[in-house]
Amino acid sequence: DQCIGVLTSGGDCPGLNAAIRGLGKAALDRFDMSMIGFRDGFRGLVQDRTLRITGEKLSGILTDGGTILGTSRDKPHKMPIGDRTEDMTPAIVETYHRHGLEAVVCIGGGGTQKNAMRLMEAGLNVVTLPKTIDNDIAGTDVSFGFDTALQIATEAIDRLHSTATSHHRVIVVELMGHRAGWLALGAGIAGGADAILIPEIPYSPEVVAEAIKRRAKRGHRFSIVAVAEGAVTIEQQQQIDSLVQQKKDAQDKDEKKTASDALKKFHEEHVDHTLHLTGQLEKSTGMESRLTILGHLQRGGTPSAADRLLATRLGSACAEVLSKRQYAVMVAARGDATENIPLVEVAGQKKLVPPDHPWVRAARLVGTCMGDE
Ligand code: F6P
Repeated sequence: DQCIGVLTSGGDCPGLNAAIRGLGKAALDRFDMSMIGFRDGFRGLVQDRTLRITGEKLSGILTDGGTILGTSRDKPHKMPIGDRTEDMTPAIVETYHRHGLEAVVCIGGGGTQKNAMRLMEAGLNVVTLPKTIDNDIAGTDVSFGFDTALQIATEAIDRLHSTATSHHRVIVVELMGHRAGWLALGAGIAGGADAILIPEIPYSPEVVAEAIKRRAKRGHRFSIVAVAEGAVTIEQQQQIDSLVQQKKDAQDKDEKKTASDALKKFHEEHVDHTLHLTGQLEKSTGMESRLTILGHLQRGGTPSAADRLLATRLGSACAEVLSKRQYAVMVAARGDATENIPLVEVAGQKKLVPPDHPWVRAARLVGTCMGDE
């Protein structure tokens, strides 16, 4: 009897329960395995807090948002203990052996892929599944959670049109995505935003204001500006590039830390950039402007049909991979195929929007301002 562990780690997203169900049903019923869930991400492995996965636990969860296992952003090698962090990998290895696990399935985003790889290096058999609304995991065409978030964000942009047109306003809508622009770009196009600003294409606020003014002159007295939370101006990008370079060129640990801290500070202070942009646009266009931050709404609720399908497909394929005792891979979607991508090729990589991606080309062709020209 093969005993498998499973955990969900990082931000929650729609489709996590569908993936646990797909994995669990196939593992239990089809491959005769037993399965132990660990609560709240890697912390559950450290503290040995478990949930035995039975058929009953898997029943009725396909449509539920969130994760029955709970989640956290804790990292095995930097686990918060009081006011400091500690490397808890040895405790995880102990838990793994205590339960006689043959492998542990880590369901998560980019950070989780890295953490899973660390556990692999500590001698554990690991298989991962790609989830995130950001869609920025390398090695897979798409991650589950993205499609649902895209729908929610698109509907939000649709609804914002009413106020924008009735009040003749500029509405800036901030979308999630961490440092990637997939969600803002996708929802921006699907929702017919007039400007879309994403991290991969640094923007100029003046260019955006000009585009809004041109629209107003043509009689469109409103504009919707979809902005990714990670979008930056051209100037800010230069600042980031120079800090990244400083970090690379650092001669010693102190210099590296200074550059690292400055980068961290930049990102911390960047959180209110959309509010700043809204004020700037109001000033330079003379049009009343408002900001809407969609935030965690984008991660909540029942998964879309496409996400249920993807999560079930990848989750069940994962059980098949485990049955063949194949480890150290991420079970990924490549076109219609499900492929096992070596974890070493995924961990630490980020899938960003290529500036010449067909979605970007389409946006430009329909006249959407991308903020750079
Ligand atoms: O990775 C998913 C995500 O929602 C990102 O889009 C966002 O930057 C981040 O998580 C927010 O994290 P938290 O919920 O921990 O504030």
